[in-house]
Amino acid sequence: MSATAADRIIVALDGMGPEQALTFAGSLPALRWVKVGLELFVAAGPVVVQQLRQQGLRVFLDLKFHDIPATMAGACRSAAALGADLITVHAAAGSEALAAAQGAAAAGAAAAGLPAPTLLAVTVLTSWEAGRFARELAIQEPLASYVPQLAQLAATAGLGGCVCSPLEVAGLRGAHPHPFALVTPGIRPAGAATGDQQRVMTPAMAIAAGASQLVIGRPITAASDPAAAFAACCAELEAGC
Ligand code: C5P
Repeated sequence: MSATAADRIIVALDGMGPEQALTFAGSLPALRWVKVGLELFVAAGPVVVQQLRQQGLRVFLDLKFHDIPATMAGACRSAAALGADLITVHAAAGSEALAAAQGAAAAGAAAAGLPAPTLLAVTVLTSWEAGRFARELAIQEPLASYVPQLAQLAATAGLGGCVCSPLEVAGLRGAHPHPFALVTPGIRPAGAATGDQQRVMTPAMAIAAGASQLVIGRPITAASDPAAAFAACCAELEAGC
């Protein structure tokens, strides 16, 4: 298994308590990246990021910060000092907050003697449906063009990438060449249950469309043999199919 394929897969440690998450992560020898979301972070606290790093893993800290510039900056400074490699913020916080977050993350990492993390902008949560989005938020811009606008806002503010659905990857990649990161959930290996994900792509399809990394949860975490499921995803990427 090449390092390249494993480096592109971020396993979401969802639905696990702190001990279970650490044990699970330690049970996949080829694993390089994990995603710590709100559920695990609220239960375990910042120490879980440090513990996962001590296991040799790189951490995507998916806390989706959305606040005033000073608070965004403080949160990103602290997250970077913990050693998170990827950190999510909401693009809708605005350019001032995004730029402050980016600068503070770099400063926080430098003060801790760590490389600067990549901040990823969340554009519009994929749980929004276009009609309800327009009605409830009174945003007249169609969702399809609002997402690229927010991605551009993030890029202009100096952020390193976006989180997006697999269906948005190709369009966003056209506007934002590598090394702008496009990290996509909603991934299902061929033959895997889709569960509550409606709009999915296989790992190889998402990478071919321009994704830089994939977030995969249940197809690996809920598999009867998670190590084999992870290896199958890597093999799929290596085969490119
Ligand atoms: O289990 P599954 O592979 O569906 O997990 C996908 C992960 O990506 C979960 O942590 C989920 O919260 C997250 N996510 C998502 N869709 C988005 C944004 C994040 O599924 N649009």
